[in-house]
Amino acid sequence: MPENLFTGWVAAGYDAGARAMFEPAVLEPTVAFLAEAAAGGAALEFGIGTGRVALPLAARGITVAGIDLSADMIERLRAKGGAETIRAMVGDFATTTVPGAFRLVYIYIDGERVRRFDTPYRYAWPAELDLMARIAGLELAERWADWDRSPFTGESRKHVSVWLRPR
Ligand SMILES: C[S@@+](CC[C@H](N)C(=O)[O-])C[C@H]1O[C@@H](n2cnc3c(N)ncnc32)[C@H](O)[C@@H]1O
Repeated sequence: MPENLFTGWVAAGYDAGARAMFEPAVLEPTVAFLAEAAAGGAALEFGIGTGRVALPLAARGITVAGIDLSADMIERLRAKGGAETIRAMVGDFATTTVPGAFRLVYIYIDGERVRRFDTPYRYAWPAELDLMARIAGLELAERWADWDRSPFTGESRKHVSVWLRPR
């Protein structure tokens, strides 16, 4: 089991510390992209946290479930309006199984905090993610520079990638 870093004050301060990530300019294109990818099917979020993305996605009528290592983060999610429709499970998303079939599985990670908070994560480059996807039986279908589908180039500082299971 990986170390659970989002406990106590970190979980309690997550939403306030990530305020910029709750801005409509950030969240609306994120949720629009994911809702389109879910295409009316159910979505599963790896690292659902306090539901920053899951709640507005569920508010669009998408059935959303999630997994998170941190019971404290999930407790924050469950205290929010709209969370009653979201099935959230505590566990490692590498090993936890959520019953059901999902049209979309997504993961959004950002380590920035108002308070300094070091994590032992490392960057995974797109080529490495593509290899992991291929090993999992998925193929790269789309790669964009952002949720607004701006073109991904050699100058891009982040990416939004979609891998699909071949029919
Ligand atoms: C930066 S937060 C992002 C939360 C939410 N996805 C968002 O965008 O606001 C990362 C979350 O991933 C969870 N997490 C990290 N590694 C995990 C793992 N292996 N299994 C399940 N959850 C994990 C953490 O507990 C934390 O709640």
